[in-house]
Amino acid sequence: AAAEAVAAPAPVEDLEDVGVGSVRQQVVNLVREALAATVPDVEGLEPQVAQCGNPKNGDYQCNNAMGIWSKIKGQGAPFKNPNAVGQALAANIPRTSVTERVSVAGPGFVNISLSDRWIEKKLHQLLSQGVGAWAPKLSYKRVVVDFSSPNIAKEMHVGHLRSTIIGDSLCRMLEYCGVDVLRRNHVGDWGTQFGMLIEYLFEEFPNWEEIGDQAVGDLQDFYKRAKIKFDVDAAFKDKAQKAVVLLQGGDPNYRAAWKKICDVSRKSFDQVYKRLNVTLEEKGESSYNEYIPRVVKELEEKGLVEDSEGARVIIVPGQNIPLILVKRDGGFNYASTDMTAMWYRLNEEKAEVMIYVTDVGQNQHFDMVFKAAKRAGWLPANESELPRARHVGFGLVLGEDGKRFRTRSSEVVRLVDLLDEARDRSKQGLVERGREGEWSAEELEEACQALGYGAVKYADLKNNRLTNYTFNFDQMLDIRGNTAVYLLYAHARICSIIRKSGKDIEDLKPTGKLQLQHPSERALGLQLIRFGEFVEDAATDLLPNVLCEYLYTLSGMFTDFYTNCKVVGSEEEVSRLLLCEATAVIMRECFKLLGIKPLYRL
Ligand code: ARG
Repeated sequence: AAAEAVAAPAPVEDLEDVGVGSVRQQVVNLVREALAATVPDVEGLEPQVAQCGNPKNGDYQCNNAMGIWSKIKGQGAPFKNPNAVGQALAANIPRTSVTERVSVAGPGFVNISLSDRWIEKKLHQLLSQGVGAWAPKLSYKRVVVDFSSPNIAKEMHVGHLRSTIIGDSLCRMLEYCGVDVLRRNHVGDWGTQFGMLIEYLFEEFPNWEEIGDQAVGDLQDFYKRAKIKFDVDAAFKDKAQKAVVLLQGGDPNYRAAWKKICDVSRKSFDQVYKRLNVTLEEKGESSYNEYIPRVVKELEEKGLVEDSEGARVIIVPGQNIPLILVKRDGGFNYASTDMTAMWYRLNEEKAEVMIYVTDVGQNQHFDMVFKAAKRAGWLPANESELPRARHVGFGLVLGEDGKRFRTRSSEVVRLVDLLDEARDRSKQGLVERGREGEWSAEELEEACQALGYGAVKYADLKNNRLTNYTFNFDQMLDIRGNTAVYLLYAHARICSIIRKSGKDIEDLKPTGKLQLQHPSERALGLQLIRFGEFVEDAATDLLPNVLCEYLYTLSGMFTDFYTNCKVVGSEEEVSRLLLCEATAVIMRECFKLLGIKPLYRL
């Protein structure tokens, strides 16, 4: 019989007491104990823990002392001043293997330094268990993320690209935090434009039931032609308007034609999602239709709905226009659908947080929907309570001319063309570097896709989403700037250092010992173990750029380390190779959360 059980190597160190959650959450837990021991009678105190402003003072600081002082002064408390409160807090921070040094500065800031041994242990935890143990704990379990959401029969434009990229990254971060994420594509698959599209389909393709989806061709074009006819041909316009009624009344023929048009659209959207490696579950506007009447009824019964020039509306505070729930003609609109979708998400899908990713142009719409939901008692007035709705707005994508990003002939830029160009330019770059001869065609293709699509995504994610950004291929594909290309090269370089050592890193992980000696090693190690709290901040504030900044800083710290510390062939080789590996692992985790595919050689 074949040899059985290979003995598992003994763990280098006992990792049981190293803890889970983000490092900041672990420090918060220590501070919470200190607060309870120092001022047991002061209620509602939340630990205030931040990174130390000056790394010379420590790694983290607790900022509670002054707030406590203002609550207790003059009440015969045993403390003379805020500094004394800080001293007491510092004395009560549990002395575990986590901390090395605790000191007090100025008006009571408590500085906390992590011990090098503990940082090393955390890194061993990463290498042996993966990054899962570092996931921050969030206060909610189930989230709907409404993103991408293009409109049927219209081309997806760069705004939808931004929504897709930002939304996907937020989903990935929340998923890492253990949240149950419902990725919702709220496609615009309902509305009056369908009457026109269906009649046009009947005219252009009398045999529409038999033809394949490709035969319809480019839907954007189709939409334009239909619209022209609608505008100039009164008889057609009349038919189109009647078609809307037939469709909404459920006429099977019109339903089938509607479905055909949706299918054609969906195929072209799916091409983009596939290339971007984004998954979404379509629940279009049409799927909420059947629930609208009962939601309107509920809101009527709550006495929230008023008459305004024949329409049924909800007045919301702070807005000069009301939310229109039922149009004058009795029909429903974008807002009726969003109110109903929210009702559905809360009641049927049990969402605790609902996130909507669209351009900032829809701020007012979502503000009204959220306020109406508060009036209805669906959402609590206090936004720190659950359930909660958040609009994740983003700015425009601009062209080099500073205007809305368009093609030369001022058309909407087709996303597939844009992705093609990013990929092709990357390929050209690789060919110039002589990679064509060294790699197989598949390897080359994989690399240029990862670089090209990664560059487009990172350029979008790295800025605060609220700012407009200028689309520029040269910039986003620059190997030296703050770009995905630079970061992918940095990662591949680390992998090549490990390969060059000739050691099998998997063999080193269980037995090798990682020791932080040089200051640049410690700085790198600390940045690595802080991964979880940056994800926590990015996910809490819904700002992917926070993670991009983390990754870029990490890459710089690795460069510092590599400049200062010899790796291959040094006495510390094993330890340093492990530190290289830990860096590569965390870089890959960042890439994953940003939706970028890592490359191991470049
Ligand atoms: N289809 C809309 C647009 O293209 C975006 C939908 C966003 N989601 C929502 N629940 N309203 O502008």
